[in-house]
Amino acid sequence: MADELEPETPETEAAEAEEEPIKRRKNGLYPGVSDELAENMKSGWADTELRDLRPIAQAAETAARRAALSERFPGERLVVPAGNLKTRSNDTEYPFRASVEYAYLTGNQTEDSVLVLEPTPEGHKETIYLLPRSDRENGEFWLSGQGELWVGRRHSLAEAEQLYGIPAADVRELPVKLKEAKGPVRVVRSYDAGIEAALRDKVTAERDEELRVFLSEARLVKDDFEIGELQKAVDSTVRGFEDVVKVLDRAEATSERYIEGTFFLRARVEGNDVGYGSICAAGPHACTLHWVRNDGPVRSGDLLLLDAGVETHTYYTADVTRTLPINGTYSEIQKKIYDAVYDAQEAGIAAVKPGAKYRDFHDASQRVLAERLVGWGLVEGPVERVLELGLQRRWTLHGTGHMLGMDVHDCAAARVESYVDGTLEPGVVLTVEPGLYFQADDLTVPEEYRGIGVRIEDDILVTEDGNRNLSAGLPRRSDEVEAWMASLRS
Ligand code: GLY
Ligand code: MN
Ligand code: MN
Repeated sequence: MADELEPETPETEAAEAEEEPIKRRKNGLYPGVSDELAENMKSGWADTELRDLRPIAQAAETAARRAALSERFPGERLVVPAGNLKTRSNDTEYPFRASVEYAYLTGNQTEDSVLVLEPTPEGHKETIYLLPRSDRENGEFWLSGQGELWVGRRHSLAEAEQLYGIPAADVRELPVKLKEAKGPVRVVRSYDAGIEAALRDKVTAERDEELRVFLSEARLVKDDFEIGELQKAVDSTVRGFEDVVKVLDRAEATSERYIEGTFFLRARVEGNDVGYGSICAAGPHACTLHWVRNDGPVRSGDLLLLDAGVETHTYYTADVTRTLPINGTYSEIQKKIYDAVYDAQEAGIAAVKPGAKYRDFHDASQRVLAERLVGWGLVEGPVERVLELGLQRRWTLHGTGHMLGMDVHDCAAARVESYVDGTLEPGVVLTVEPGLYFQADDLTVPEEYRGIGVRIEDDILVTEDGNRNLSAGLPRRSDEVEAWMASLRS
């Protein structure tokens, strides 16, 4: 953890800093502080300690998740860091997002924090290591870059205990504790270099990977709290799509950026952020799968492929795509392609149910798309040959979906047998998102197809008896999309 309290160089300054730890900010913007001012700043502050805080809404769920983790790795010390701030440029940082593993297990999202499960004869002792309130005595709160005067009030350790239901300790003590700790230990890697350095001689990549895989697979089936959050994310996303439709004329006068900004406003006001960079792809940009530059023109007569999701304050994200006629009405060729994708999505969604293989919905969608491509004369049949050789993929390009949760591509570290080769069960949430993309320079298709890209993406919960479309609030069928757009623009 960077310590802003100590001057960088030279040694004499370091020695001086030891006696008087807080005299300047590291970047030199505050070169000197008089003893009088330093003394003055120590006192005259009210006691703002918050007492009788209620636990966070998901405290019971996070406790159950930690209990499952404890059961999987008995007798081992488990270290799950939140991660550190990342520099954007000079002394500005990217917005912080805690590691999914840490947020999943604690509900907390504070930078530099670490959850530790320490083995004891009675099971694991849990501690959440956090930066405590800023010290007023040594001037940290107003002279350190991490001081609360600069970054805002933090929760005290006692407050954190009440909120998260986990005993809290000062994270600045943790590296030494970890260095001195005996016995087997595992850490979730790639979030906190300082913590990893403290554990360097005690961990192995293979064992750490087992911890990461366990935490990824634990998220394959969502609990009720998570499903509620995903529904909230989707509901905000529906409102964000409505916002966009209402301002398409302003987007036409400017660029795809107007769409990105409009959706982002909804995401920031109702949620934490967007769950991934919004894809606001007008016209042929729809054929670029990860089009996030969003700097192109928006033209009447073209399609807009909008793939966007609001992320809730608890980090659960929606992932929804609609492909909309910018002028409100699909042209004949646009409708032909759109309806094929719609039929493929319908077949895919119908294949999402408990007991089905994960791959089934992909296979069902691909079959419909292959049938249409053969029917349109774009690829030589029979359909079985096309599917066997994967020839439809020139235009279908990507898989038909993925797990959804705190990451848009959730559970990415899960083993193949648990995910791609796995079986669906109630509580799984995934996307079904077939598409057809005819690149503007694809000479193998008639000209009228070129530059048209269509994807329809919904967020589907596996239920006891089938599935529930969490994003059913947004129309999908082409005539319903047109009616919905007309109602919003009238
Ligand atoms: N928005 C990324 C995806 O659909 O997978
Ligand atoms: Mn997706
Ligand atoms: Mn998407």
